[in-house]
Amino acid sequence: MSRLVVVSNRLPLGDNPSGGLVVALQDALRQSGGLWIGFSGEHEGMTSTQLVFHEGAAFQRAAFDLSPEDYDSYYLGFSNSVLWPALHGRTDLMRIVPEYLEGYRRVNAHIADLMIPHLREDDRIWVQDYQLFPLASELRKRSVTCRIGFFLHIPFPGPAECAALPNPTELLDWVSEYDLVGFQAERDRLNFMESARQLGDIEQVEGDVIRLSGRTLQARVFPIGIDTASFMTEARNAREEDRMRSLTGAQMMIGVDRLDYSKGIPQRFRAFQLLLENNPDLLEKVAFLQIAPPTRKAVSAYRDIREETEHLAGRINGEFATVNWTPIRYIHRPIPRHELAGLYRQARIGLVTPLADGMNLVAKEYVAAQDVSDPGVLILSRFAGAAETMQEALIINPHDPWELAEAMAQAIQMSANERRRRHSALLRDVVEHDVNWWSSEYLAALG
Ligand code: ADP
Ligand code: F6P
Repeated sequence: MSRLVVVSNRLPLGDNPSGGLVVALQDALRQSGGLWIGFSGEHEGMTSTQLVFHEGAAFQRAAFDLSPEDYDSYYLGFSNSVLWPALHGRTDLMRIVPEYLEGYRRVNAHIADLMIPHLREDDRIWVQDYQLFPLASELRKRSVTCRIGFFLHIPFPGPAECAALPNPTELLDWVSEYDLVGFQAERDRLNFMESARQLGDIEQVEGDVIRLSGRTLQARVFPIGIDTASFMTEARNAREEDRMRSLTGAQMMIGVDRLDYSKGIPQRFRAFQLLLENNPDLLEKVAFLQIAPPTRKAVSAYRDIREETEHLAGRINGEFATVNWTPIRYIHRPIPRHELAGLYRQARIGLVTPLADGMNLVAKEYVAAQDVSDPGVLILSRFAGAAETMQEALIINPHDPWELAEAMAQAIQMSANERRRRHSALLRDVVEHDVNWWSSEYLAALG
């Protein structure tokens, strides 16, 4: 069996990593063994001239550092101030600066240089996410001929957003250098096909096989899952003091998201405000816990969303709180996974309301954490990739505060029978299509 080499922007070097991409890949590598290459997180000194290896029980990790200049242009700049907003439908937040694109190309070329001495002819290389679109093309320039796959964890945009990028045809050429391109949802695959049709040179050969910019490759959907079994166990074992219902006596709603403008947190707060305004009987009976750890703080759009979120939470609490009750509790820190699992289990409603999202693993974690005999209700945005398979959730339009407030009221009143019926269908899917299923399907297709 050939060796698996995974490359992602973020490489977990600590003991207890969290986050969807990291958990998913760790699991895949534990099963097959191999090598995982990525950024160490260090960006104060020089860009590494060679990979630094960390031996592990099941697989090897190899890290590189970035200089402040490379970090600014490749990570903060092109990845998170151009690609991230464009691919999430927020072209208004793009900051196009020529140095960002140059830095993005330069760092991807440099990662290819760092990899070359460590590659074997029959490796299978699996590249992750939008920070690394050009990597296959850089490896091919260095005569790498082995199978190279790509998985996009975030949405692929339609032609209008693609056309707003400074280099739409270059993006399609980068994609064409892979042998297999994986998307989270059918929506993304269709957007990709349509964007390529309008802006590039594509023809459908047969089924999933396409010819793009003169190369033949496969484009398929592989919806990512979570490590369902271990998350269920973690939630069942959550300690009593991690639980909320007993602490507050109120029905709890929970939101868990990086504080990102794509997650729809202010929209969620406004809908909650509407719920309280329209249902005075719910005052002191319902409480909302929003856990939103910081992310990409050096990018100005993230500072703005923090301000907006904190301003709204303060305003709503000021208007509705009583001496005994705080309607919104907001935590701006990461919290340990076992605690998170316990909090999900105790929340009667899970609020997952992104304006755009590749999959959204929080939706799956919330379902996995529930007590099957008395489960909570998932309220899910139709713009999360998860909505394609999690149709038994209450599916909402996050832009419409009336619809969202109505779904909150419906979830609060939902009978135990209906909650169990919806939850068992959701759980079946989360169990069957877990992270092992995802990586096995992908790797089987990569060959
Ligand atoms: P994204 O990849 O855009 O951040 P996902 O919902 O797919 O969104 O994945 C987020 C992951 O990060 C989930 O596994 C979630 O549990 C984890 N996470 C989010 N917020 C926190 C937090 N405050 N503490 C710990 N883990 C968190
Ligand atoms: O899932 C999308 C993603 O961008 C991953 O690539 C990334 O690991 C995660 O979100 C968190 O973002 P960041 O690595 O920029 O903190």
